[in-house]
Formats: sequence, C-alpha cells, structure tokens
Amino acid sequence: MKVPFFDLRVNNKNFKKKFLKRAEKIFTTGKILLGPEVEELELKIAQFVKKKKSLGVSSGSSAIYLALKGSGIQKGDEVITSPLSWIISANAILSCGAVPVFVDVQDDYNISTDKIENAITKKTKAILPVHFFGKPCKMDIINKIAKKNKLIIVEDAAQGFGSLYQNRPMGYYSRAVSFSMNAMKNLSALGEAGAVATDNISIYNKIKQFRYAGTFSDPKKIITNKCSRPELNHKIDTLQAAFLLEKLKYIEEFNHHRFKIAKFYNNSLSEYVICPDIFENKKGFRHALYSYCIRINAKKRNKLMNYLNDNNIQTKIYHKPLISNTDAYKSFSRSKLVNANKMVHEILSLPCNEKITYNQADYVVSKIKRFFNYVY
Ligand SMILES: Cc1ncc(COP(=O)(O)O)c(C=O)c1O
Repeated sequence: MKVPFFDLRVNNKNFKKKFLKRAEKIFTTGKILLGPEVEELELKIAQFVKKKKSLGVSSGSSAIYLALKGSGIQKGDEVITSPLSWIISANAILSCGAVPVFVDVQDDYNISTDKIENAITKKTKAILPVHFFGKPCKMDIINKIAKKNKLIIVEDAAQGFGSLYQNRPMGYYSRAVSFSMNAMKNLSALGEAGAVATDNISIYNKIKQFRYAGTFSDPKKIITNKCSRPELNHKIDTLQAAFLLEKLKYIEEFNHHRFKIAKFYNNSLSEYVICPDIFENKKGFRHALYSYCIRINAKKRNKLMNYLNDNNIQTKIYHKPLISNTDAYKSFSRSKLVNANKMVHEILSLPCNEKITYNQADYVVSKIKRFFNYVY
C-alpha cells in the first residue's frame, strides 16, 4: 500500500462539476482579474474567521507580509516570533524592513508565552504568533503580554484555517491575520493563494492598495498609475477564488476527517510516541491539524522516517533547519532556543489529510507498531 503525505489530485466529481461551472462563467465573462468571485470569497472568508473584512491575495507569503506592513511594521521595528515555522514568517518581517526576534517554543511547538517578555526591547513593535501545525497559540496570554507592553499582534495563521481557541477563530486578538491557501493547506487552492483578515478598516484599505502595486483604485480605470505606497503585485486570481469558494463548502467536513484520523493515530500510537494534544480542554478548542506531528528521540526519528519511507509511507519534517539556524538568520539569534533546537530533531509529521482512508491510516499505525516492537 502507498500512503502519500499529500494527495493534490482534484478527483471529487461533484466538486469538479461545480468548479468547472464557475470556471466556464469566468471564461465567458472574461472577468479574469479581480472578478466578482474574489469579492464573494472575501466576504465568505471574513464570515468564517469572524472578522469585518478580508482580502484575497496571491499567496500566504503575500498575506503575512501585507498583514505586517498594513499594520504599520517598518524599518527599525523588532517583531517577536517563533523560530519553528516556515522561513517566510521571518522573511516577511525582514521584507518590511523590521528585525525578527526569535523566542523559544513550548511543548506544543508554539511560541513560549513564558519567554516573550524577556525578548521585548524598546524597539519591539509586534508579536507574530504562528499557529504551528494548526494548533492555536495561547492567544489570551499573548494578548495580555501585548497589552501590558503596548505591542500589536499580527497572526500567521497560514496553517490554522479552521482552528479555534476559546471558541474564536484565529485572528481574534490581532490587528491582522494571514492565511495560506496553497494547494497543501486545509483550505486549498489550485496552486497559490492566501488571504488577510482584519477588523480595522484603515488597515484593510491600505492592504487593498498594497495588493494592487500600491496604486489608487479608480473604478473607471482611467487613473491607473497614481501611487502613494509603492508595492509589488499581490492580487489573487479570479479562478483561484472560484476554486476556493467551492472548497470552502467542504472545509468543516475535511477538517473533521483530519480530526478523526488524528484521533485514531493518538489512540493507537500514544504508548510508543508523544502524540499531539488535539483536545486541549475540548470546549471551544480546535486543532486544524494541517499537520499531525509525533515526537520521538532524534535517533529513532530518523530511523522511523526511513523505515516508513521503505514501506511507501511518506512523512515530513516541518521545518528543518530552524529559521534561526539558517545562514540568513544565524546572526539574529539572541537566546539559545533550547526547545526548538531539540524538537526539530524529534518531530515527524505523519500523513493526515482529508483524503487519507482509514485503511491507509491503519497501515501507517501497523508499520509504526512493527517498527517499535520488532525493528528498532
Ligand atoms: C507558517 C507559514 N506561514 C506562511 C506560509 C506561506 O504561505 P504560502 O506558501 O501560501 O505562500 C506558510 C506556507 O506553508 C506557512 O507554513
């Protein structure tokens, strides 16, 4: 049996039919650039994440960059974030002219709320929590720290579409929140896409302008070069918006499937490995399970990864090396980041997506049990 980590084929007949109908309409109207589907998607995303406004953009990378820039992050600022994330969390900060300051992670792989205050300096302007693997950060605590120290929060929820913390979607406490909708994400486009959401109309207007190269928006399209905030092009394609509108209808079902597979893994594997806490006091909490990650000691982790690979089970390590250990950011580290440095050698993500079958999950479990009982 083969168990791919991702299965990006588009093979649900009903979904395909509905998307192709929308695509056909776009072919006919020719409204390919920022067509009505974009606005429709923005309304639906804003509703889903309970924010006043959302903007579709070309990627999650553009989304986090624009969320930071739109929130006023600029040259000379420091932004506190996690070293255990995809590189873009730091690149986005740097692209605003600001400096990322890495704070170690806690047992749930998210930024350690105990260590944030030690990293605050006179230059600190914002905290950028990353909801890693889709596990919500402790946002109430982070919010208290931010308020106390007069900092703003911008959230990188690229991996947390569908996550809930105290019954609130990601973004509740922040000026702006970003989501990735690339083909691998819980809400996935047919390629690259992302979104920013905010309650702040002035930030929304700024990001809307940034999205379009920083130009003034003239509905009559006569003035197209008036620009007060020079930027690049971050627009989302209408076709991607159409695809996402259809995908959005399935998001609860897909996320629930991820949860059931994760629960099955937890029940089957917790005597062998450290499994993620997918319940955390249950009420009002939801781990979006963008990635289901187990933890074991480093030597065993690498052997297990090879063993599973030999048995046609694809796994993945998110994200090695730590951002703070890459050439680009080595000189930025101010503290030891002990947990993050240890964890990155111990974590292993198992296949857990909306398409994986119970047979496949059972096969993964049987091979992991076999590894621990007979192989290792
Ligand atoms: C934590 C995090 N932030 C931002 C991004 C950027 O998203 P995209 O790939 O859509 O540009 C990703 C993508 O994987 C991510 O994992």
